[in-house]
Amino acid sequence: MNSAVLVVLLLVRLCSATLSYPFEESLEFKPLKSNNLLASFNFKLNSSEFQLYQPKGETLHYSVFSKLLGPILQETNTRELHLRFSQGWYDAEVYGELPAKGGQSGGTGVELWSVIEGTDDESVFHDWIRLVNSLSGLFCASLNFIDSDSTTYPVTVFQPKSQLLQQNSLENDLYLLRSALPREPVCTENLTPFLKLLPTKGKAGISSLLTGHKVFNSQWSSMSIDITTHCSETGCHYEMDQSIKLILNVPLALERNEMPIPKPTPGSKLKCDPSKFFDAYHCFPLDEVSELDYSLLDLFGKQIQGGALISNTPTKVCADINKKAWNIDVNSSTNVDLHDENGKTCFTITDSENYNIHFKSSNTSEIAPLPAPPIYASRSLSGYSQDSGGFRIDLTNPTDEDSKIIIFESTPWFVRIYLHTLTITVNSTNTYTVDDPEFDTLLNGIIYNPAIDRKKPSHLELLVTIPAHTKVKLALQFDKSMLLYAEYPPDANHGFEIEPAVISVLDKDTNDVVYQMRTTTALLTLPTPDFSMPYNVIILTSTVMSLAFGAIFNLLIKRTVTEEEAERKAKSASSKIRDRLKQRVQSVKNVFKR
Ligand SMILES: *[C@@H]1O[C@H](CO)[C@@H](O)[C@H](O)[C@H]1NC(C)=O
Ligand SMILES: *[C@@H]1O[C@H](CO)[C@@H](O)[C@H](O)[C@H]1NC(C)=O
Ligand SMILES: *[C@@H]1O[C@H](CO)[C@@H](O)[C@H](O)[C@H]1NC(C)=O
Ligand SMILES: *[C@@H]1O[C@H](CO)[C@@H](O)[C@H](O)[C@H]1NC(C)=O
Repeated sequence: MNSAVLVVLLLVRLCSATLSYPFEESLEFKPLKSNNLLASFNFKLNSSEFQLYQPKGETLHYSVFSKLLGPILQETNTRELHLRFSQGWYDAEVYGELPAKGGQSGGTGVELWSVIEGTDDESVFHDWIRLVNSLSGLFCASLNFIDSDSTTYPVTVFQPKSQLLQQNSLENDLYLLRSALPREPVCTENLTPFLKLLPTKGKAGISSLLTGHKVFNSQWSSMSIDITTHCSETGCHYEMDQSIKLILNVPLALERNEMPIPKPTPGSKLKCDPSKFFDAYHCFPLDEVSELDYSLLDLFGKQIQGGALISNTPTKVCADINKKAWNIDVNSSTNVDLHDENGKTCFTITDSENYNIHFKSSNTSEIAPLPAPPIYASRSLSGYSQDSGGFRIDLTNPTDEDSKIIIFESTPWFVRIYLHTLTITVNSTNTYTVDDPEFDTLLNGIIYNPAIDRKKPSHLELLVTIPAHTKVKLALQFDKSMLLYAEYPPDANHGFEIEPAVISVLDKDTNDVVYQMRTTTALLTLPTPDFSMPYNVIILTSTVMSLAFGAIFNLLIKRTVTEEEAERKAKSASSKIRDRLKQRVQSVKNVFKR
């Protein structure tokens, strides 16, 4: 009896001891200009320790780290993995600098880079292809379309972040590979596997707010996964950072709740600009509402369903607001302790009750200080013509100091860049070409790997210095190649997306990346053959064939006769029938006579 109680006690002890896992989650809201709201969901977790060089086929335990990902990383010798799914346009002038200094945001579409350990290029590339194929199945994305013609080996940007034990304790070298799919639409089917990697599976904690139709209704969204390997003397473990950043336009989100099908605002609800003329027929609507009152239920259709109770630290929710104009209120059946943390209003969740946050503002344009990005950049295509064109990158340094930046650009092989055409224009007045001495003071370094047709994309990294308060324009010419018939995508007339350029701002002294942003994708039209032509040819040929067949068939089968001939024939035919009838009748008569 006593021993049984002991065993039960021991089990209870064991269970409660293992109940807290290395998992952390936090949620932060920040109202932005023009009634936008930034929501950052952050999740961090660690795997349990393992040995880096396991004999193949040995079972590993990862605790809260996903059992789906672990074996894939182990099998493909992946030491670091970074995956980004983004959608929408980040307007830095309204939203300020990117959350997490751009370290967790990707360009439009899907972006992937990873550090793979291997002995030579070939085996590493083989592992890379196996990795992207596995991830493709896991995340329901077209990552399996990644091949050598879209893979680059970046040199200065995307530095590994893992603290692998001293490099010399690794058995092989590390390789960094990167690829992007700018055409990939990001949607619910990518969010579901993303949530499945969390130990809370989107059922509890802050991830319970995330549903596809609300997340992808945002102005901009970015999902990121960063996995790094960290080693000590005893063994290694994975650290995984997952995040979802959303920018929601609040009036738009509230309007969708009221009217799922967009309709014009009824006249009685219009707010007209009093500084302009207005009456029953004329109205200049006011740009923005300045008073708002909304809750998580309005934005996400859900409340926070308790904390992540398996975690060793309680779920934390914060709001970065200007307390003069904003009021935060949490509605829950338990008492909520709202406290200040670095100027933010925060609370923690340690039970499984529902939590709803109310945001109330008397003047929504009064927001907490919004840091401006250290660089503004945009890229466009110029010089539209059938067989050539140009890239133009506009960079503005709004700060008081010169800034060092790296522009990373990878273009598909059918865009043939001519590096000697690179020109730099400063403040729209002075244009420098390669021969000018000023060119070298602005452009401090070039890494360029030209493309190989159908095998390799071109890869360009430019180290540029931008003087304070200066606008710099970089222009580059390229030729367009002709593609083979089968190389065009199904909707060839849509054009080809060129992946976003990655712009990294470096620290002046240490040369570490302190801020990173992406431009938008560029849509390039190539000379496109008329794909409807084969069908036109088939249709035309068939018509001609059927006409010809009909005529020839008629000629062969039918005989042409004149009218008299036909009548004579008809007559003779009818007289023949009459004769025959007479004969029959005669023969019948004969029978009766007998
Ligand atoms: C993961 O491990 C690192 C280092 O061992 C530690 O600093 C970090 O807090 C851990 N993360 C979690 C979520 O426990
Ligand atoms: C808080 O939630 C309760 C039900 O859970 C509801 O009755 C009450 O009206 C809510 N309060 C506010 C201010 O929304
Ligand atoms: C709201 O705040 C902005 C900026 O502080 C100010 O210009 C504006 O007049 C305020 N609006 C109202 C209605 O108080
Ligand atoms: C560019 O123009 C701005 C003012 O418009 C000026 O402050 C800056 O020094 C100029 N840059 C250069 C390199 O001349």
